[in-house]
Amino acid sequence: ILGTTRPRPVPWWRGARERLLALAEAGTPRYVYHLPTVRERARQLLAVGAIDRRYYAIKANSHPAILRAVAAEGFGLECVSVGEVRHVLASVPGFDPARVLFTPSFAPIDEYREAFERGVNVTVDNCELLQRWPEVFRGRSLWLRIDLGHGDGHHEKVTTGGKASKFGLAAGRVEEFIELARRLDVRVTGLHAHLGSGVETREHWRQMVDEMAGFARRIGTVEVLDIGGGLPIPYAADDEPFDLDDWAAGLAEVKALHPGFQLAIEPGRFMVAESGVLLARCSQVVEKDGVHRVGMDAGMNALIRPALYDAWHDIVNLSRLDAQDIADFDVVGPICESSDVFGHRVKLPAATEAGDLMLVSDAGAYGYTMASTYNLRALPAEDIIE
Ligand code: LLP
Repeated sequence: ILGTTRPRPVPWWRGARERLLALAEAGTPRYVYHLPTVRERARQLLAVGAIDRRYYAIKANSHPAILRAVAAEGFGLECVSVGEVRHVLASVPGFDPARVLFTPSFAPIDEYREAFERGVNVTVDNCELLQRWPEVFRGRSLWLRIDLGHGDGHHEKVTTGGKASKFGLAAGRVEEFIELARRLDVRVTGLHAHLGSGVETREHWRQMVDEMAGFARRIGTVEVLDIGGGLPIPYAADDEPFDLDDWAAGLAEVKALHPGFQLAIEPGRFMVAESGVLLARCSQVVEKDGVHRVGMDAGMNALIRPALYDAWHDIVNLSRLDAQDIADFDVVGPICESSDVFGHRVKLPAATEAGDLMLVSDAGAYGYTMASTYNLRALPAEDIIE
């Protein structure tokens, strides 16, 4: 906790140790999600008065129980593939398709066709779609995703704005899109942007609203400004917790400057990251050339974030939570890749040994949904704690 100005709340799993040890008896690796934490995050965002619509980005975690929980809190669901759309409609009984927001990128045209047929709200992000398949879009109401020309985020691989990014209509082509929409009798009712994930910059969303309102006025029919997701969570002990009050105050201020628009957000990580842990069994403890390694039965196949983004996740030995004698270990997985490392110099009980139950924290977002069967290792199991 050293270095933080405000203490972080005690994570839910500290009080659920016995439960987690018992769940792990059914096999590891396994993800466990704590629904009360998901509901708490949902309610924190519901309390932000400047926001009119909330969509949960299901790519972060599409477990049906989580989808039902956030839908029950009044959230819409944001999907990026027709597979996600079908999954949502199958998992949440009676869910109104109009509360699904479909924001694909370079998807095959059949996915747009199906989305319209199912009555979901469709976002397009280029002129070429409408030029190539005018019959699919003629007469429709839709949202337009725009690239504001700059991006942000915790890693260059999750930055989704600016020239190097494949996402969004270039700001310089907005007039061309307006003309195209006019000819096809297309009505643009929402303007959408998502410029990155895990954004720490306070000004980010305020600036987006400001810039988007300008484009929305030019388009003339826009009712909703969707400023995307990107809300960060503190992964490391010395990460500043996200200041939700400050964020909400900033949004309220900028919204007042641009009356007449509803504001929408589509967070993924913020909603679910802290609700999830990955349980893994220690497989072997090995010393090599002075480096001590703790191996686990979960690797980059189960949680790819450290390998892909150098992301940090706290790791604890749940079997020896109160151990006093601590040592540095590299924590690794069983995958045949040098990048299969969860962390270097991780502080763990010196007595850590094969069979201990390890817990990887804050793994509820982009964990299971990005898992693979690489090396023909099975996908992790998933459990829900009510
Ligand atoms: N909306 C759109 C259009 C998106 O592309 C994303 C995430 C979100 C919302 C939700 O963003 P969030 O609130 O979760 O930051 N796999 C990476 C994150 C990639 C995010 C992709 N798009 C990671 O594990 O950090």
